[in-house]
Amino acid sequence: MDHTPLSLKLFLNDLKQLKPPNQSIKEIEKISDQKFVGISEKKVHEIHLLAPVIDEICKYTECDLVIDIGSGLGYLSHMLHQRYGYQVLGLEMSHKFVEQAYNNQNKFYSRSKGHVIFSKLFIDVNSVNDIHALIEHHFGLNRKVCFTGLHACADLSVTVLKLFSTMDNVRALAIMPCCYHRISTQEDHKNNIMTFPNFPCSNTLRKPFEEMECTRFLQIPFLRLACQDSLDVYMALTEVETKRKLLGLMFRAILEDVAKNENCSPRRLKRKSPKSNDAEDAFEAYLNNLPGSHALIAEPSTVTRAIDKPFLEKMRAKWSTVNTERCRGMVEALTAFQAVLQVVCENVVLLDRVEFVRERGFRCNVRRITDRTISPRCWALIADKKNL
Ligand SMILES: C[S@@+](CC[C@H](N)C(=O)[O-])C[C@H]1O[C@@H](n2cnc3c(N)ncnc32)[C@H](O)[C@@H]1O
Repeated sequence: MDHTPLSLKLFLNDLKQLKPPNQSIKEIEKISDQKFVGISEKKVHEIHLLAPVIDEICKYTECDLVIDIGSGLGYLSHMLHQRYGYQVLGLEMSHKFVEQAYNNQNKFYSRSKGHVIFSKLFIDVNSVNDIHALIEHHFGLNRKVCFTGLHACADLSVTVLKLFSTMDNVRALAIMPCCYHRISTQEDHKNNIMTFPNFPCSNTLRKPFEEMECTRFLQIPFLRLACQDSLDVYMALTEVETKRKLLGLMFRAILEDVAKNENCSPRRLKRKSPKSNDAEDAFEAYLNNLPGSHALIAEPSTVTRAIDKPFLEKMRAKWSTVNTERCRGMVEALTAFQAVLQVVCENVVLLDRVEFVRERGFRCNVRRITDRTISPRCWALIADKKNL
């Protein structure tokens, strides 16, 4: 017998209307490019699927220079030159990454010298003159530019939309955003809430947000949910993987709860998760690992405090109260519910950005680029100024 409450059924039905259309993606050919040895399958997948989209939009808008924003180690930039012959300017705030991108060029792409340039630049909305100067210095005047960025994290993708909207020579844009929950925050002391200068960024969303007082609940947890794994990924987990995931969530929740009672928050020092599937074994393994992998921080101080034995005892006590079938079932149901909500939350964030560009008179859409199970942040914002 189906015990699902009618209100939940209606809610899930409403959610379906809010999902983006399920676009299919191109199959990619088997890649055996020795220059990509040493980079993850995920990254290879992403650059092989994003590069043809950039090529398509550059051809459509007659762009002859691509600016790869937040270019990291330069894999996308090199691919764009190697496969399509574009000149590329990679802009990156990390000096170390710029150096490594040039090392890769020397080792694998020596023919791209002079055509693919990397430059250290922290990009914000005031970077217009710096970007113009770099284009002119390295590639000359009157270039028609396409902005791109693979995993332009946090505020960076909104900054890029703002630059696209104000720079006349930038005719196209294909950018894949990520880490929505890391966008900058501002404290609204009067209402005791956090606000985001870049969310919502469009007037279209800002108005209903204000009317519905959305800032009260569309906070960091909402943005965090928007960049979790999708329902496809959740559904593809094996029974063992699901169990491990749920236990991991419970352990983390206990850590946060006990820390909160001590006016602290946990800070991860390194990534390492125990692999046992038995709940008791896994919890003890988690506790053993905790003092080496996490510290406690009592905000607003930045001084960390080690996780000690009394703290671990409190976690054990908490675990004994929640390690019940009922609690585990609840965690499973809530996690599944989160997985259903994820795509809608992400859609709100993306729609806001699309509307921001459209409000400025340019065409903009969202296109699915990658396979969600390989690369969960699979959407690109595609915009152009053709015929304007
Ligand atoms: C998630 S990484 C992606 C790197 C690369 N595009 C890739 O996919 O391999 C984001 C990159 O953007 C850079 N970045 C972030 N904010 C930036 C900013 N405001 N200006 C320049 N670079 C920035 C970071 O240093 C980092 O290398």
